[in-house]
This record gives sequence, structure tokens and C-alpha cells, in this order.
Amino acid sequence: MPNILITGGAGFIGSHVVRRFVTQYPDTQIVNLDALTNLFNQYDFTGVIHLAAESHVDRSISDPMAFVVTNVIGTVNLLNAARTAWKGREAGRRFYHVSTDEVYGELHDPNEFFVETTKYDPRSPYSASKASSDHFVRAYHNTYKLPVVISNCSNNYGPNHFPEKLIPLMINNIRHNKPLPVYGKGENVRDWLYVEDHARAIDVIYHQGINGETYNIGGCNEWKNIDLVHLLCNIMDEKLGRDTGTSAQLITYVTDRAGHDLRYAIDPAKLMNNLGWKPSVTFEEGLTKTVEWYLTHQDWLDDVTSGHYQHYYEGMYATR
Ligand code: DAU
Repeated sequence: MPNILITGGAGFIGSHVVRRFVTQYPDTQIVNLDALTNLFNQYDFTGVIHLAAESHVDRSISDPMAFVVTNVIGTVNLLNAARTAWKGREAGRRFYHVSTDEVYGELHDPNEFFVETTKYDPRSPYSASKASSDHFVRAYHNTYKLPVVISNCSNNYGPNHFPEKLIPLMINNIRHNKPLPVYGKGENVRDWLYVEDHARAIDVIYHQGINGETYNIGGCNEWKNIDLVHLLCNIMDEKLGRDTGTSAQLITYVTDRAGHDLRYAIDPAKLMNNLGWKPSVTFEEGLTKTVEWYLTHQDWLDDVTSGHYQHYYEGMYATR
């Protein structure tokens, strides 16, 4: 029976990937690991899907070392474990490293897009740590012939997203009538993809991708932050029965993120043409589903913004 180790399966994207693999592949054993230990002796893994990472840019600015430890050293630990366990038995196995479009840096020309061959130019401690881990994965492929595949995805959104990230933070603050902190002038652009479409892309790449290859995943769905926040305000006004324009009054421009990347935009043509993937959820559908999920899971939101999470969460908020 095939058995796959998924790391970071308790996180935002990872939880959707675990859910998808458990439902789609009932005959495959899925082991979810959300803190690095060596399980390779216990299970003869046929595959690893490595999502575990520190992922928030603002946190990386205040604590870069945590990102080095988890994203770089954590990945190298896992690569070593796979390399040792699979030595001489690599055929039919796969180490899949899930990464980000931020490794490519920022775009200025609106006609430019990140492709798989775009030069790496990470600009935040977070993206530098992910770029470093990508390099290690490729180095293990080249040096030790470890069967690897990498994907670099644009911004995700959807249920279970921790409310330190733009979309869930805005939903939560609108709910509580708190200020909506827009960094700088709100002109930075992000390319948004519904998280279940990302989970499906990971499924396709895991099963059909070619070893040693990289695939860019994106929603072809670019939004300026300020326009996105206005759209969310309108959806929330409607859902909460508020007059249109009420929530937008909460928008507050705050000091910009240090080194804030201007624009990310993915060209997913390779994935679409070679493996037949395309996004299936429109932004309107996805955002509506997301808002509805948060409004029907307010206890989840309250839980993750209180108790042991609260200290850090409020610390972040106070620094804005
Ligand atoms: O591009 C993929 C990346 O997307 C992932 O690799 C990262 O793990 C993920 O965190 C995300 O990075 P961003 O920095 O783009 O996401 P974030 O939600 O933090 O911010 C989105 C945009 O909104 C960004 O331009 C900063 C801005 N922003 C964010 C927050 C939290 C605000 O204006 N106000 C805020 O309070």
C-alpha cells in the first residue's frame, strides 16, 4: 500500500492537502507530521509532501532565526532522512517540496510574470529562507539523485487561514469593528488562489510531475490590496446586514511593511499545459465561500486569536 508523509498538515494549506488526499485516495496511508521528528524508521514512505514552514513575512521581519531553523534546517533534516531511508531504493518514490512565488522577488512591469526560470531574488527573511530550502532540494536532486519535485505558488486564501494574513485579518477586524490596517498606500499587488485549487494542483504535481522539475501555481487573479479590502468590506456589509460603505470606514493606512514587495504574479502555463491543471473557483465564489466559512466558524476565529496565540497576535498588531 502506498504511504505518504505530509509535513505541515495541521497548517492552512497542509490541512486542505491532507483532507484531499484522505478523501481521494482511500487506499493510501497518509501520515501527517506537524513537528519534525524522524518517522522514516517506522514507515517505509513512498512519498513526502513537505509543506511545514514558517510562512508569515511580518513575523520573519521580527524573528528571522525562527525561519532559518524551520524552513532551512527543517527542510535539510527531512531531505537527509529521505536520502538515508531511500538510498538505492529511490525508484517510484518522491520528495515534493511546496514553496512560494516570493523566492522570485518583486515585479514592477505589469506585463511581466514569474515563470519557472525567473532568477531567484528573495527580498524578505521569509522568502530568503524558502529560496534557501528550494536550493537545498535541488542540490539533493543533483548530488544524491533524490527524486524531487518543487512547486512555487502565489497567495492562497480560504477556510482555516490564520488571521494574521490579509484576508482573514480583515474579515475578523470587520466583524469586531476594528481598524483595517492597510500597509503603505495599499497599492501592492498579489495574485490570489483558492486554497482547494492549490491542494488539487499539489495532487496533480505529486502524481504526474516530473522529477527534478519545478511548477509555478497561480490564480491569474491579481488584486491591489486596497481594492481587495474594499471588495471584502462590501461582501461583509452584505453578509452582516450593514449599510454598504459601513465597513470601508474602518480602513486605516498604516506604516508600510519593511522591504514590502510591490507585485507578485505567476504565469502557470507550464502546469496548465503539461499537467492539465487550472483554477476551478472564481474569486467571487471563493471569497464568498471564505467569508461564509469565517462567519459560521466564529468560535475558531475567537479561539486562535485568544489564549496562547494572543500574546504574539496582539504584539504584531501593536507594532503596526
Ligand atoms: O505569495 C505567496 C505568499 O503569500 C506566501 O508564501 C506567504 O506564506 C503568505 O504569507 C503570503 O505572503 P504575503 O506577504 O503576500 O501575505 P499577507 O497576507 O501577509 O499580505 C498580503 C498583502 O497585504 C501584502 O501586500 C501585505 C498587505 N497587508 C498584510 C497585512 C497582514 C496589509 O496591507 N495589511 C495587513 O494587515
